[in-house]
Amino acid sequence: MKILRDWAPLLALLAVVIALATWWDARRRFEGLRSQADEAASPRAEPGWLKGTTDEKFLRVESQLRGFDKTMVEVGYRFTELYFAGKDRNWEYAEYQVEKIDAAIRLGIERRPKRAGSARYFLEEDLPAMRAILERHDAAGFDKAAVSLRQACVRCHVRENVPYFAVQLPERRLTPIRRAPR
Ligand code: HEC
Repeated sequence: MKILRDWAPLLALLAVVIALATWWDARRRFEGLRSQADEAASPRAEPGWLKGTTDEKFLRVESQLRGFDKTMVEVGYRFTELYFAGKDRNWEYAEYQVEKIDAAIRLGIERRPKRAGSARYFLEEDLPAMRAILERHDAAGFDKAAVSLRQACVRCHVRENVPYFAVQLPERRLTPIRRAPR
């Protein structure tokens, strides 16, 4: 027992040292993880991929934004969503998709102004016709409106010399979005 009493202060000191070392190590690891996370969150931490002068950087960003093909990939997706939203009588979601198709094409024209002529009729007549059907929640009119809109897509493809991009009514759903139970 006496031995234990003699060594007690030393053992206590050892315990404190071990506890301190463990705490220090954990802190260092945590800081390492946090600085990795900061780097990932802030692109400023590392030199970015945009090189050269400001003008050169803008040109890189411009080409990364791409042309009308990007617009059309989005429009193709949204047309499918619009179609099934109409089939589901999910009017709000369908109207949302019409607005996004409109925005995507307008932004696409900013990047590729030579498409503006062909887009005008689509934006001013074809899309508003679909919008009107959706606003009226016109279930009977929707099927016809979908066919008309599909034909409008095809008309522009013909005018823009890509007639082999023949748009059909979609067969398969692309997302899990459905009409919410009401
Ligand atoms: C302003 C004319 C115009 C309208 C309106 C239009 N398209 Fe297009 N679409 C194009 C052009 C041009 C291309 C070829 C893209 C390119 O060469 O940059 C294209 C290509 C596509 C592609 C292929 C995209 C790819 O690169 O994989 C899809 C899908 C598409 N369109 C769907 C549609 C659908 C669906 C509609 C109707 C809701 C529609 N388009 C309306 C002009 C139009």
